[in-house]
Amino acid sequence: MEDLRQKYIGMIATASDESALESVRLTAIGKKGEIALAMRELGRMTPEERQTAGPRLNALKDEITSALAARKEALTDAALDERLRGEWLDVTLPGRRRGVEPGTIHPVSQVWEECTAIFADMGFAVAEGPQVETDFYNFDALNIPSHHPARGEMDTFYMHRDAGDERPPHVLRTHTSPVQIRSLQAQGAPIRIIAPGRVYRADYDQTHTPMFHQIEGLAIDRDISMANLKWVLEEFFTAYFGTSVKTRFRASHFPFTEPSAEVDIQCSWVDGQVRVGEGDGWLEVLGSGMVHPHVLRSSGVDPDQWQGFAFGMGIDRIAMLKYGLPDLRAFFDSDLRWLRHYGFSPLQVPTLHGGI
Ligand code: DAH
Repeated sequence: MEDLRQKYIGMIATASDESALESVRLTAIGKKGEIALAMRELGRMTPEERQTAGPRLNALKDEITSALAARKEALTDAALDERLRGEWLDVTLPGRRRGVEPGTIHPVSQVWEECTAIFADMGFAVAEGPQVETDFYNFDALNIPSHHPARGEMDTFYMHRDAGDERPPHVLRTHTSPVQIRSLQAQGAPIRIIAPGRVYRADYDQTHTPMFHQIEGLAIDRDISMANLKWVLEEFFTAYFGTSVKTRFRASHFPFTEPSAEVDIQCSWVDGQVRVGEGDGWLEVLGSGMVHPHVLRSSGVDPDQWQGFAFGMGIDRIAMLKYGLPDLRAFFDSDLRWLRHYGFSPLQVPTLHGGI
């Protein structure tokens, strides 16, 4: 029996794969294996012999069974190790370039984000409206009736209408102000929103493009005043330009505000470059005022109960000022050289709150 044991334990130890192991199993403890044959011999033994041989045979069978299992596990582990070694991957290797430069963040997107973050800090939520707008939202509801000269001044793009088209006239929105109406209608007062977005006017020169970006602001509550407007704007410009910026309010006129003010920021010109927040020059950056009672009424808000301010500012304009970009037209020319020069690397975007 000791011979059997030596033989099979040895065979198991040297079996190099699962099928070798399986054939050892069959010859050792299979139904017609050597141990089974030996078991059959038991019948021919004397009871005394059987009493010692029986348990020993069973013990041997058990020993072989567990040796087989242990070897099988060792073989599986070794195979796994081997595979892991073969498929080893160095995740720290630099990636393969795909033949194109990584993109950059457009200055407009960058500034849009910066503005949103600053106003969000002051509790303004972001609202949106459609770029193809009805003339009701773009004009009438903003107290610009059809005969009003402001309609002519805006160089509006009108959407084509076939004769007999029953839908109301549509325009490409000329400003983000219609979002004031839509937001008030949807949410009522009190409200505190900004609405950044694209706007369109038939205009093209160094400081005008047919598509550009504005950011609208609206705060309506029981007792919002021009003082709140001034504070919010000065806070905004100081955060945005990273330096304290004085503002100057000039009386103006917009149909949708009363009183209305155009707002200038303090600046100086050095070698043809604008420096914001210093000197005694002024640069106009936005229109604003107290929301006209007509506007509140056409949005379903009672002007005897609610009041507040609104403003509209050019995103591209303040992007040019902050990052020293000379020509607005280049913003939308899709010239990759320009974007590489002025665009923000996704990895090097100025931190919103660190830098401002
Ligand atoms: N919508 C005006 C424009 O595009 C800008 C403006 C002026 C917006 C005064 C306002 C405001 O909200 O109160 O020229």
